[in-house]
Amino acid sequence: MSKDQLEILDCVGQFQLFPGTRFMGSKNKIIHSLWGYLNEIEFDSFLDVFAGSNVVSYFMKTHGKKVVTNDFMSVSHYTSKAIIENSTTLLSETDVLFLLNTPSEDSFVSTTFKDLYFTDEENQFLDQVRANIDLLDDEFKKAIAIASLTRACMKKRPRGIFTFIGQRYDDGRKDIRKSLKQHFIDNVEEFNNAVFDNGTRCAAHLGMAQQLNETADLVYLDPPYYSPKSDNDYVRRYHFVEGLARKWEGLEIQEHTITKKFKSYQSPFSKRESTFDAFHSLIESHKNSIIAISYSSNSIPTKEELTDILKEYKNDVEVHEIDHTYSFGTQSHKIGNKSNRVKEYLFIGK
Ligand SMILES: C[S@@+](CC[C@H](N)C(=O)[O-])C[C@H]1O[C@@H](n2cnc3c(N)ncnc32)[C@H](O)[C@@H]1O
Repeated sequence: MSKDQLEILDCVGQFQLFPGTRFMGSKNKIIHSLWGYLNEIEFDSFLDVFAGSNVVSYFMKTHGKKVVTNDFMSVSHYTSKAIIENSTTLLSETDVLFLLNTPSEDSFVSTTFKDLYFTDEENQFLDQVRANIDLLDDEFKKAIAIASLTRACMKKRPRGIFTFIGQRYDDGRKDIRKSLKQHFIDNVEEFNNAVFDNGTRCAAHLGMAQQLNETADLVYLDPPYYSPKSDNDYVRRYHFVEGLARKWEGLEIQEHTITKKFKSYQSPFSKRESTFDAFHSLIESHKNSIIAISYSSNSIPTKEELTDILKEYKNDVEVHEIDHTYSFGTQSHKIGNKSNRVKEYLFIGK
């Protein structure tokens, strides 16, 4: 086998260790199609401005790229920190025993979210582990622990989201029956296994895309897809795990809401006008790099509009179409329905 073939096998093996989620808009299912096009570009560094589940960044890390991530959600950021920026630190068995067995007085989750998502015992477990995470003295260990705890909550939760209370949509999946504690322990193992060094210095940022002061050979933009027909609010879906990641610090819970969510972060991608402006300013600020954008056929700007915007800053613009059927999110009721066939576009501006 040639050196190149061996390298590809290594990448595939490492990529299989990515701890995936059903995160809305995740490119998990189409990453290989995206790579089919991106692979033709010569680049050493990769900037993932809207990292989300981190699947694209992790894929690029397995392909030896120097990856920089960004997202405005802490829940995404801790995953970046744990397996993109971090290349050597693991959470040891002793650390896990410390997290599980050190008593804590914290009761924020137990009181605020009583009878909403998890049992009293599970809420107490979350209070205790989250409090103890802050006592760890290493930022990467903390990140692995937070990423494992939040992913445990998402896996245990029907549909992985927090837009409804109680156990509606409980489909009896094994993940729903498994205890939260066991989920956490299993997740630590998965995250530990996903840590690796690709020989570059990768980094993770937490913040607004518009304020990110980073660059790379290839800049990837995968913002929330705006459509007047559906909401693209990540905070509304994932507020509980986002709050847990941040210990609700600086967040004001909207007490009148049934789900006890906090006020969503402002994103320009939640309104039509500001979506256009945001594309302009993001593309402008990265115009010296090759830019790749993911967007879909049922969103605004349209394919033609986004192509025109990109052409204002780039001479050479290609648009590729990737067939993709939603299997989750606001479209899930339409599974099997042909009208649910949307095209994923990949715009590349060189
Ligand atoms: C379509 S998802 C990205 C999916 C990701 N590529 C993946 O494969 O999982 C969009 C992401 O953008 C983030 N986001 C939304 N508005 C943002 C903003 N203004 N600045 C930074 N991140 C933002 C959301 O938190 C979400 O994680």
